[in-house]
Formats: sequence, structure tokens, C-alpha cells
Amino acid sequence: MSFLATDEPRVNRLVIIGLGLIGSSLALAAKSIGLVNTVIGISRRSSTLELALDLSIVDETYQDLASVASQLTSGDVVVIGVPTLSVPVVMADCHRLLSKDVTITDVASVKGSVVDALREIYGDLPEQFVPGHPIAGSEKSGVTAADKHLFENHRVILTPHGSADTEHFLLVSKLWSGVGGLVTTMNVQDHDVILAATSHLPHFLAYSLVDTLASMGDNREIFRYAAGGFRDFTRIAASDPVMWRDIALANQQSILHVLDEVMGNFQMLRKAIDESDADYLMDVFTRARDARNHFGKLLETNTVQGSMTEKTINYRVTPGGHGRGVLRVPGDKSMSHRSIILSSIAEGMTEITGFLEGEDSLATLRAFREMGVVIEGPDQGRVVVHGVGLNGLKAPATPLNMGNSGTSIRLLSGLLAGQSFDTELIGDVSLTGRPMGRVADPLRMMGALIETSQKGTPPLKITGGQTLRSIDYDMPMASAQVKSCVLLAGLYAKGITSVTEPAPTRDHTERMLQGFGYTVSAADSVASLTGGGALQGTRIDVPADISSAAFFMVAAAITPGSDITLRHVGINPTRIGVINILRQMGTAIHLSNTVEVGGEPVADIRIQYAPLKGIDIPKDQVPLAIDEFPVLFIAAACAQGITLLTGAEELRVKESDRIQSMADGLVTLGIDATPTADGIVIVGGTLGQGHVLSHHDHRIAMAFAIAGLRARGEITIEECNNVATSFPDFIETAKAIGLVIGVESRDD
Ligand code: S3P
Repeated sequence: MSFLATDEPRVNRLVIIGLGLIGSSLALAAKSIGLVNTVIGISRRSSTLELALDLSIVDETYQDLASVASQLTSGDVVVIGVPTLSVPVVMADCHRLLSKDVTITDVASVKGSVVDALREIYGDLPEQFVPGHPIAGSEKSGVTAADKHLFENHRVILTPHGSADTEHFLLVSKLWSGVGGLVTTMNVQDHDVILAATSHLPHFLAYSLVDTLASMGDNREIFRYAAGGFRDFTRIAASDPVMWRDIALANQQSILHVLDEVMGNFQMLRKAIDESDADYLMDVFTRARDARNHFGKLLETNTVQGSMTEKTINYRVTPGGHGRGVLRVPGDKSMSHRSIILSSIAEGMTEITGFLEGEDSLATLRAFREMGVVIEGPDQGRVVVHGVGLNGLKAPATPLNMGNSGTSIRLLSGLLAGQSFDTELIGDVSLTGRPMGRVADPLRMMGALIETSQKGTPPLKITGGQTLRSIDYDMPMASAQVKSCVLLAGLYAKGITSVTEPAPTRDHTERMLQGFGYTVSAADSVASLTGGGALQGTRIDVPADISSAAFFMVAAAITPGSDITLRHVGINPTRIGVINILRQMGTAIHLSNTVEVGGEPVADIRIQYAPLKGIDIPKDQVPLAIDEFPVLFIAAACAQGITLLTGAEELRVKESDRIQSMADGLVTLGIDATPTADGIVIVGGTLGQGHVLSHHDHRIAMAFAIAGLRARGEITIEECNNVATSFPDFIETAKAIGLVIGVESRDD
């Protein structure tokens, strides 16, 4: 494979000092694709130079830099490829012998020591020197291990001290990207701290483990039986000792810091094993497995240790699709959150099936793991939670990251207001812009100590140890998240906490609490409970999410000839606005197999195409369809006549401003859509083609993907990564019913 680009600048002579694995692989890669004009190898060992010539790794060889230095000039790159502690010696030669025009770089795994040496030798940080570190390697070493593919798709970190657009920087970047590397920049300190944890420490652990086992009396026996785990864990203990000795000495402080942390954890692990503390072991192992699986996905897509960027995903939908099939969409997001929250504070074990393995509900799950709850899974929707009781949560070591999830942060704020320990809740850019005053206000009325940013947004800082009082809260907006937040805080308050809602909102918290044996009264728009009781572990079957089903309901509703059946969907009366609205617009929807599962009604939903007409959406349906409006707007765009939505100002504070995001996208596609303060006016028409932005909002992305079924041309939807928050298999499911949809990804 060649990564050679035709545009300049081009490296003339590549001089590699030190023909170890990295140096000789770079020489071989550059030479074999004709990336540079001449490759020169320098080594003190003549046998190495002979081998390098024999193997056609280099064009010319010298035993020292002095023999070639006077020929080098602008456009030539000198790469210092010797072990870390030998870099200063070579650097001193470079200082003495090379003109300022020659570009110099190095490949050492530690950058702080290189920069310190530069300061000492040059008296400053010369622009001609661009420190570098290819994150690639192998346990093999030396010129005979040279591999021309070694750097392909591996990150190369450059830590330039000057500006990153000098000729020298561009030349070094060009060299690495030419051999297939993915060039990134970083500051020196971050580099050394990150690499100490992700690269240096694992090597030292592997060396230490192998050395420990090897020095045991019966080591032959031990190694004879050491298979899979040992082999996987210790492959890197076969690496070059000189190189790793140098790294250990050059990056002392960062390594000691992370080593101390691991040793502390080892001590705790030892104690847990000694004391048969099964909970501690499960806690650590499940948390680690979860983290490994999470980061494993990043590793798979990036082949580098600790990938530092994520790819941006765009969707492209081509006209000509259809909507036919029988499918089950993933588990209900709202119920998945609540299943983890309530089972964590219940007594005993809860088994959950149908759990949504989306980023949002996983953020909730991780938060409880951070607070010491042992949670097994998720494994194909099955999760087992070992509840710790109402007062058994432990202080998390770091802020709890709620990612993109409004439900996580708002529900957890209520629960955490009642704990004895302090917590901080943080989230991604979208969540950090969303209003939290709506939960902070009632919680403060209950005596909670909770801080938001000045704008009333995250991060939320909650000071524990407060005595909460029960309140009767008249909710100013119809919000299930606020209602649930207050009820969860109410579990920790003395007396009866009640919430009155201005319009019915989803009541999963109330229903599920009852499933855990906790008495909740819910009547005439008031939900109340008495604090201080206990929840008992139970079984929860999470049905398919009607909010995810809605995309395929609309797919069938807008596509002539369609017929889609969605299995086992939750049809809680507080969630069925989408069915009511589509029926009013003319869609044929048939429910069957209606049953009650764990206090929640569930049914199969069949949707067949029929021509749609625009309607005035009844205000009482707004809270019942609050998450389904993006895709309902697509139905409105395909309907005959005008659809009018009012009373939906809440849509402006969702994962994006959904009124504006949808209006903008619809207008791009040629639809007459006018946003209003609390809704939108959509005139049905013909969907055209174009690029629309999802604003990182999962439901906007999926809504426009469905629009592709009726569009005249191709629709590209940008920034669709967040679809994974609620519907990880959306693309496969969409293809299964007949959408012609593809995914494109690009590096950020
Ligand atoms: C949710 C409630 C709704 C909804 C959100 C999930 C819940 O938000 O939009 O996706 O699980 O309680 P609001 O309570 O803010 O309306």
C-alpha cells in the first residue's frame, strides 16, 4: 500500500541514526514506496549496516553523522532512532554538525527528557527539531525485524514546541503520513502522562509478572501450563530491555505516579481475596470488563493504544427504499435508566432483560458501578444488579459522567441529593447546555445543597449529608424527569413528598417503584410517596421503546406499499401520542397481543401505508409524544395540507433545539416549515435532496434518515454518532426494513 501524496514538501534525504525496529522500519517503508530520494542509515555497528544494505533497507550507510553531515541541507530529515537515554548524545552531534536548515526529529517514547536535553544542548528549543513518537512497535527488535507496514494506521504523536506550520513540522508530518501514520499533535507533558499509563506501565507489569514466575522454584512446570491469559498478558515482556530501561528512567515521575495507583489497587485486591470479599472482586472485575469493552470498540477502529480521536459518522440515504418487515427495536430508554437506578438502591438482586445497551442508559449503569454497585452485564440486554439498599451507595472517586443523557443527570440529581457523600455530575457539550434549574429548584426546596453553573446548566455539584424535607411540588412544566427527580429525592425525605403535574407525563418511575414493592399513590395528576421505605429486588422485562419504534411507524406511514410490524412495544398510555397523532393523520395502525409485563402494557404494532393529511396536533398529545416530534415532522412534510404544532416549547431544550434543527433540515430539503416560539407550521410537499445537520441529536439524525424513503434525491445527514445513545443498531434495523442507507466516517 502506498500513502504517497503528490503534493510537496518532499523529503530529499532521510537519515536514520540508529537502525533498531523503529528506525529500520521507517527506512524500509520510506524506501520501498519511493517516499524519499535517498535513505541513509547510520549505526556504530558495521554488522548492522551490512545487514541493512543486504536487506535493501537503506541506500547508503555511515558509521557516524560526521561522515555525511556536511552534505545535508534544507529538505533533508534526520531521525534520531536510538534508545531514549542515548538521544542526548546524538543530539549533541546534531547540534555540532548540522546546519539550521536540516530538519531533525526523534522517535523516543518519552518526550520530556528529549525536550530537557534540547534545552541543555541548544540553549533553547530550536524550530528545526520536531520531537515525535510513533505509537507502533512490536516485541521484536533490531534491523532484522524491520516491517514496512509497521506504521500504517498507527498514530504518530508530534510535540512541536514552535508553531505547527513551520517547514520542519510539515516535513516531519509528511514523512510519517507518507508511511501510513496518523499524525496528531500533543503537548509534551500530556504525552508523557498518557503514555506512562497506556504503554509504559503495561510493559513493566508484564516484565515483573514474567520475572516473578520465572524465579519461582518450579518455573518449568508453571510455564508448561501457562497458556492463554499468561501469553496474552506477557507478550510484551519479550521487548527490548535497553529500550524499556531507558523509558523507565526517562519518564520516572509519570510512571511512579501511575505505578503507585496500581500498587494501591493491588493491595486492596489482595485484601479482598484474603478476606473472601466477593462483592469487591465482582465490583472491580465488572467495572473493568465494562471499561475494556467500551474502550475495545475504540481500539478496534483505531489500531492504536488509547485512541485519541473519534470518527464522525454521517448517514447517506438513497431514494428507492421501501418499508416492509417484522422487527423488534431495542429496549425502552426511560425504563432502562429506571431499572438500573431502582435496582441499585433495592435490597437484593434484580434481573433485567431487554435492557437498552445504548450510550445513555450505559451512562446510568456506569455511574452506579462508580458508586460501588455490582452490576453484571449487559449481555444481550440481560443485566443482573446486586442492590445495596437505600443507603448503601458509596462516594464515587471522580465526577460522574452522564454523557448526552438528560434523564441520567436529572434523575440522579434527585437520588444523590439524599446521599451522605458529595458528587459532581458532568456531561457532554449538548448536556452542558441544558437547563438544570428545573431540578435544582425543587431539590433546594427540599433542603438539598446543589450548585449549577451560572446559567443553570451542568456541571451539578451536590453536597451530601443534608437532611431532606418532603415537599408538595407544583411542577411548572410537564416533565417526567423533574417528577422522577423529586420522587427519588423523596425516598430520602421524612414524610410524604408529592408532585403535581400540569399535564400527564410518563409514569414509569411510579410504576416501577411499585414493582419494587414501594408504595406510590398516583391519582388526579398527583404522584406521592413516603420516604424511608425499602425497595425489594425483582425481575424487570423492558419492552421495546416506542420512541425508537416511532421511526419505523413513520417509515411505513409515508411510504406507499409499506407494511411494518413492531413486536413487543411498550404502549404505556403516557407514551402513545405518536400512535394517536399518526392515526389522526390517516395511518392505519393495528395493535395486537396486548399484555401487561411488570406493570407496563405491551403490544405488537402493525402500521400500513395510507395517504396522510395535515392536522392541528392536539395540545394534550404533546407530552405523550414529546420525543417523537422530529419524526412526526417528517410525516407532516409528506402529508397533504398543513400540520400545526403548538404548546411544545420543551422541544427547544432537548438534545438540540428540535424545532429549529428540524425546521432548518426540512427547509434544506425543500419543505415549507416555519418555526414558532412553541411549535412549528409545516406545509406538506415533496422532499428533495441535500445535506442536513443533526446537531449531534440522535432523534434528528434518525428522523432525516427515515425522510430518505420519500425523498427525490440523496439525503446526507451529518454528525450521526449520537444515534448510539438510544438506538445502537439503527442502521442494521433500517436496512432490514428496506431503507437504502450507508454510513460514512471521517476522522475529526
Ligand atoms: C424522559 C422524559 C422526557 C423525555 C426524555 C426521557 C424520562 O423528558 O423527553 O427523553 O425518561 O423521564 P422531560 O421530562 O424533560 O419531558
